[in-house]
Amino acid sequence: MTTHAGPYPLAPDASAENPEISADEQQFNDLIEADSRIEPRDWMPEDYRKSLVRQISQHAHSEIIGMQPESNWITRAPSLKRKAILMAKVQDEAGHGLYLYSAAQTLGATRDGMTEALIAGKARYSSIFNYPTPTWADMGSVGWLVDGAAICNQVPLCRASYGPYGRAMVRICKEESFHQRQGFEILLELMQGTEAQRHMAQDSVNRWYWPALMMFGPPDDDSPNSAQSMAWKIKRFSNDELRQRFVGMLVPQAAVLGITLPDPDLKWNDETQKYDLGEIDWTEFHEVLSGRGASNAQRLQRRRDAHAEGAWVREAAAAYARKQSERSEMVAS
Ligand SMILES: [Fe+2]
Ligand SMILES: [Fe+2]
Repeated sequence: MTTHAGPYPLAPDASAENPEISADEQQFNDLIEADSRIEPRDWMPEDYRKSLVRQISQHAHSEIIGMQPESNWITRAPSLKRKAILMAKVQDEAGHGLYLYSAAQTLGATRDGMTEALIAGKARYSSIFNYPTPTWADMGSVGWLVDGAAICNQVPLCRASYGPYGRAMVRICKEESFHQRQGFEILLELMQGTEAQRHMAQDSVNRWYWPALMMFGPPDDDSPNSAQSMAWKIKRFSNDELRQRFVGMLVPQAAVLGITLPDPDLKWNDETQKYDLGEIDWTEFHEVLSGRGASNAQRLQRRRDAHAEGAWVREAAAAYARKQSERSEMVAS
């Protein structure tokens, strides 16, 4: 029974008098409560740190593996302008990977450790990058749908409670919106082209639409980590809320493109003020997630080869850094 005199009885675990909570933990809880930011120097619960390392490193791996389906088209882009744009986009994704690896490093993860886990096939990355990109229209669909879904997921992450993650996301989101626009523009040009080009664009959207919806993760009632992540203010909206937001953004854009979203059950529901969506095939999602997607093995092998081919660059950079520090030691002594 509480003897607290005020009109709002304090919850036992939120009370400053609770001997179970250390001053550090109280400060952490207060920062979260006040929508302030946790910085690397601050105390944080071990589970919070682990959960962020997992999320940020998976996100970094996704950016890096995500370069592959598009780099596949750089040499075959239909014009010099398209080639330059696609190269810039793929380079942006490399940059995103680097900001995110740096953010994970502020939590004590090592860059070598994260890379090792990825190339050993132990670390996860977004399954969307295990789908193949057989046609040029896929460069449109990847930008419009995959980067589009990434924006819906990532804009709320700009306010994530962990400072270095939130700040990395601000810059990443600016670039992702350029990516989405360039994808839309590729599809628009194809849709204004020949019958064969329109067909290629529609076929590509048919292949990417459902996997893009799956990027938001399982439905809310089957998403065990979400509640904790929302309590820590890392995540701000549920998977289903974000999926709804995404579809709400796509519908008017699909109308401008003249493209049909491949869901016959998709319609606006006046009562719920939401779109009703058709059934998502989660068996396919779990197949791809467990490594049986069309391109899983190929993506990992390419990443391993690239790491091996880059060994000389890492060695040269380390030798240069060593030389520089020896030189400055000589000057100092
Ligand atoms: Fe990115
Ligand atoms: Fe992107």
